[in-house]
Amino acid sequence: MTGDIAKVNAATKALEFVKDGMLLGLGTGSTAAHFVRLLGERVRQGLRVKGVPTSEATRNLAEQVGVPLLEISQIDHLDLDIDGADELDPQFRLIKGGGGALLREKIVAAASGQMIVIADESKAVDVLGAFPLPVEVVRFGFALTQKRIAEALRATGCAGNEVTLRTSGKSNEPVITDGGNYILDAHAKRIAQPEALGAALKNIAGVVEHGLFLGLSRTAIIGKAKGAEVRTL
Ligand code: 5RP
Repeated sequence: MTGDIAKVNAATKALEFVKDGMLLGLGTGSTAAHFVRLLGERVRQGLRVKGVPTSEATRNLAEQVGVPLLEISQIDHLDLDIDGADELDPQFRLIKGGGGALLREKIVAAASGQMIVIADESKAVDVLGAFPLPVEVVRFGFALTQKRIAEALRATGCAGNEVTLRTSGKSNEPVITDGGNYILDAHAKRIAQPEALGAALKNIAGVVEHGLFLGLSRTAIIGKAKGAEVRTL
């Protein structure tokens, strides 16, 4: 519950960065959902913004709370992207994709003038990798891709190299992303060289995108039980 209050506090602080007329990237996950709900309240009070959602879940929520939306095909630049993270290190390198939305999240972050990460304190780590790194892969040949990803983990000095297919439900069906792909979770344990691992993963046939967000954010809002701290690089 404390974590949830901290997430609300981070999301509330992020509203201070939103200005009238902005085009916004709307992240995915529970922290980003708090932000979208709060943004909906501001819109009902007269704030004029438009958002591009990073998942179908966020699209549904934004529609429910009345945030006007655009399709990504209608824009070529966003002013500000607000999104959560599974881990962030002191250089604001991120692991994202716990909610499976990493592909759209990365496209939206890359199209934004600024990305602000909103997270509770538990997400701030010294070294990335305790949270399994999500990698979105095409379904065709995914078992081969899984092996190549394990090799990339080994080659770049990660502490672990187990790679698992993300499943859900009682029948353990593979999770299918909004893009129609699978998610492989790479249990790196400790990612010694995030840039090298990111480059190695991008080089594997079958990998659509990985959840390392490198050099995309220079501002993080860390929510706490009371209030939130704005950190900048
Ligand atoms: C979804 C994400 C989320 O931002 C990440 O999983 C954090 O989620 P939460 O705010 O629920 O802790 O990357 O793909």
